[in-house]
Amino acid sequence: MSVEDHLLRIPGPTPIPPSVQQAMSQPMIGHRGTETKQLLQRLKPRLKQVFGTSQDVLMLTASGTAGLEAAVVNTVRPGEKVLVLVTGAFGERFAKICDNHNLNVIRHDVEWGKAVSTDVIREYAEKHPDIKAVFATFCETSTGVLNPVQDLAEAVHSQTEALLIVDGVSAIGGAEVKMDDWGIDVLTTGSQKAMMLPPGLCFLAVSPNAWDVIEHNSSRPFYLDLVKYRDKLAEDSTPFTPGLSLLMGLEQVLNRIDDEGLSQVFDRHLLMKEMTRAAFREMNISLLTSDKDASPTVTSVQPANFDPEALRKILKTEFGLDLAGGQQHMKGDIFRIGHMGYCSPADVLQTISLIEIGVHKLSSGTTEPAYGTKAAQKIYLEWK
Ligand SMILES: Cc1ncc(COP(=O)(O)O)c(C=O)c1O
Repeated sequence: MSVEDHLLRIPGPTPIPPSVQQAMSQPMIGHRGTETKQLLQRLKPRLKQVFGTSQDVLMLTASGTAGLEAAVVNTVRPGEKVLVLVTGAFGERFAKICDNHNLNVIRHDVEWGKAVSTDVIREYAEKHPDIKAVFATFCETSTGVLNPVQDLAEAVHSQTEALLIVDGVSAIGGAEVKMDDWGIDVLTTGSQKAMMLPPGLCFLAVSPNAWDVIEHNSSRPFYLDLVKYRDKLAEDSTPFTPGLSLLMGLEQVLNRIDDEGLSQVFDRHLLMKEMTRAAFREMNISLLTSDKDASPTVTSVQPANFDPEALRKILKTEFGLDLAGGQQHMKGDIFRIGHMGYCSPADVLQTISLIEIGVHKLSSGTTEPAYGTKAAQKIYLEWK
């Protein structure tokens, strides 16, 4: 089967809309010319709404991890104390970056599949009043948990002087976020998730308080120095050659978001989450996360009666359907479905229906297909 016929339903990279693909194939332009300047001028105000901020959203040519690292190395200095909330593989990445940067890392681990409780902030604030920053993951892609970032921000700011730094890589563009209203100090994402682009861009927004801290940091890095990006973006430029084709694609992504309406985009993601969860509930197959903790962009399924890897293999071989497996200790225990970005309720129905065929085969015909699909259809029909 040709890759062109594959159905990519992993939690990133995600499929690219044809109009975005087309926008990215425009002729190259000079990175210091007026075309690039005008492109950045057009992108700037439109990106802010996706982040829920009045701040300029910086655009770095790098993968999502660069956004995490940039957030760390710009806001805190070696030896300073930070709290990292680890709810899965990507919280762990934040902790590793902090360790690598020789920070004094206080790590709060949460069982994979559960969201962090905001109550822990009080506990750490009392024990460690000198914490400079709290690092959290919005959607923990390894488990499908959406952490309560709004409540976390409230807890962090009411009980500490710390900045709240959020990895929004698999959330932004799919889950509603109000960076300014909620009080997030640094929010970052990558291009290859709900932003409907190929990998290669990283977006990052910074609050006035965090800028104050960053400006006073005399040991900022070179390529990831956020002040350079901020100052250049104020002149509709970038400090280094930007990923121009991706930026051309981004303009079309923002057109699509405007056409659909941002609140409808978020609502579609919630609908896709509910359809997916209802299907597995009906099939009697366990979900890793509770309804309350579940992300609108990725769902983790934890089957008791069949091997998730065997299911993934059948789906890939027979239909070219790509689902993700579990990471680290969850490998072989769960599978993950990405329903974000260029993904519709129709795609969810297709995915569920194919999974039902796979489950039917794995159960030697004892599990009847169609019940899950029907449950998902019912959610769709009843969705307000
Ligand atoms: C929540 C989260 N953070 C960070 C990353 C890392 O992004 P990248 O692989 O683009 O460096 C990912 C990628 O899957 C992610 O899902």
